[in-house]
Amino acid sequence: MVTALGLPLSVSVRGAAKINLHLGVGAVRADGFHPLQTVYQAISLYDDITITSHHYTGIVLETADYIDASDVPLATHNVAIRALEMIRARTGREGHEHLDLVKSIPVAGGMAGGSADAAATLLAYDRLHGCRLSDDALLELAAELGSDVPFSLIGGTARGRGRGELVEPLDDRGTWWWVAVPSATGLSTPEVYRHFDRLFPNALADPAEPADLLSALASGEPLRLARSLHNDLQSPAIDLRPELGTLIGLGEGEGALRGLVSGSGPTCIFLCDSLDGAHAVVAGLRGAGHDVVLIANGPVAGAHLLERS
Ligand code: C5P
Repeated sequence: MVTALGLPLSVSVRGAAKINLHLGVGAVRADGFHPLQTVYQAISLYDDITITSHHYTGIVLETADYIDASDVPLATHNVAIRALEMIRARTGREGHEHLDLVKSIPVAGGMAGGSADAAATLLAYDRLHGCRLSDDALLELAAELGSDVPFSLIGGTARGRGRGELVEPLDDRGTWWWVAVPSATGLSTPEVYRHFDRLFPNALADPAEPADLLSALASGEPLRLARSLHNDLQSPAIDLRPELGTLIGLGEGEGALRGLVSGSGPTCIFLCDSLDGAHAVVAGLRGAGHDVVLIANGPVAGAHLLERS
């Protein structure tokens, strides 16, 4: 169905989880953020947002069985609601919209689930109302909402600089297979960064360029990529949650090419040589008592339209 202006009544957009193939962190800046040299990849775990013109603004949540719905902030604490309010103000519109959010990306897991929801909301709002904001205008709003939100808009594999908000797509023709193990309890991103500051008081002002990772990515070889994966937030995350170190050792023992903490954690991700290899790692981890073990591949698209109705 469409309105008299030819606009849809509701729009659904899908947003993807992100992982960091390289996360180089520098010394904290005066504004409290850390300078980053990162390489993001969007992987096939998704949140879907449907936005509908309504007489009040609200949000209805549905979650995958491994997500505790009470962990998802609602009302104005939800970054999707903040995204909605921001784009409404930016486009000078009045009115209300209702959001239906179907979450499969682990919450507070270091996979940018909130950023995926914010990016999806910006795109859905733009299409619902025919705003036609330019890509640059959407990226600017995204950067205001959070460091990872611009990447969540563009997806694929991309370099991130600044505090992560300056993104540049990379040519990545590989198909990379990942196993992801979320934790029942999330980790606070600011807390992990603060612990990084405590552990590395002499961190460089500018983190090094991810040269090894970029050449491994271009080679398309899983083993080379495995050797080049790097995350400066891994040791602070493991220091706060020692069981993550044990989990990484376990996944590698079960045949993963390499395991590492995803972003600020606590989700751990394991690069595998193939889909079959990923199934073998899943079986091993389940056998060792990890009930929630997910398979995903990347790179996949960032926020993209699913449906208009
Ligand atoms: O930008 P975002 O809202 O996702 O950041 C959440 C928090 O993570 C920040 O308030 C900051 O404490 C930390 N952070 C940081 N350096 C970055 C990105 C995030 O210190 N580059």
